[in-house]
Amino acid sequence: MVEIAPGAVPSPNIWNSPQVYEIENRAVDPDGVLEPAMWALRPWDGATVLDLGCGTGFHLPAFARKAARVVGVEPHAGLAAAARRRTAGLPNVTVRVGAAQALPLPDSSVDVVHVRWAYFFGPGCEPGLAELDRVLRRGGAAFVIDNDATRSTFGRWFRRGLPSYDPAAVERFWARQGFRREPLTIRWAFGSRADFAAVLRIEFPEALAEEFLAEEPGLEIDYAVNLWWRYY
Ligand SMILES: C[S@@+](CC[C@H](N)C(=O)[O-])C[C@H]1O[C@@H](n2cnc3c(N)ncnc32)[C@H](O)[C@@H]1O
Repeated sequence: MVEIAPGAVPSPNIWNSPQVYEIENRAVDPDGVLEPAMWALRPWDGATVLDLGCGTGFHLPAFARKAARVVGVEPHAGLAAAARRRTAGLPNVTVRVGAAQALPLPDSSVDVVHVRWAYFFGPGCEPGLAELDRVLRRGGAAFVIDNDATRSTFGRWFRRGLPSYDPAAVERFWARQGFRREPLTIRWAFGSRADFAAVLRIEFPEALAEEFLAEEPGLEIDYAVNLWWRYY
């Protein structure tokens, strides 16, 4: 059994199918909307960046280009090992096994936290927010990227897959925590129908994946996300 840090939220997409999740990551945001939106709020040149729930470390090299230091934290030891392999040639990157609720980092040691589709999904993530408050230096910022279920083709699909999801409750939660919302629209753009199908099948139950594939005959869809962010 692979080691998984306590408090991890089961993430069957990347835990069971990391290679397909890699295809998904490559398909996300081909226009490069997300990084400049974060940079405009709190640039990380010369800073220490924490990528929390970093998975196989897909985003670590991009942060390492400008940051002085990048730390990836990931509860699944097998994925953390993959992130280490990915960044082996980058001396300013380290990867630690750990979870948002008990970060393996000292107080006031990080300037920017990036969390993408990991643990911080709204109500229930208060223990992780307390840890962000502990590890972030004053003047730092936290960025949480998650689905906007109220808009776009992907948002509609997401609500079909998770009818109990309550976007208004999630928004109220983040507002209470002092986070602001920046709605952004990105795309999913795949190189082939086979890639599109493989990704839909790790994100949705089989019947829905087939329905969505039939609905969208091309290689791309529009995908609304929320960038939740706040300064510390
Ligand atoms: C959908 S994946 C996203 C991975 C990565 N952020 C990316 O964009 O490639 C969600 C990740 O969150 C991690 N995760 C689950 N529970 C967590 C927790 N409590 N603290 C930090 N990360 C967690 C999972 O192990 C998984 O790697």
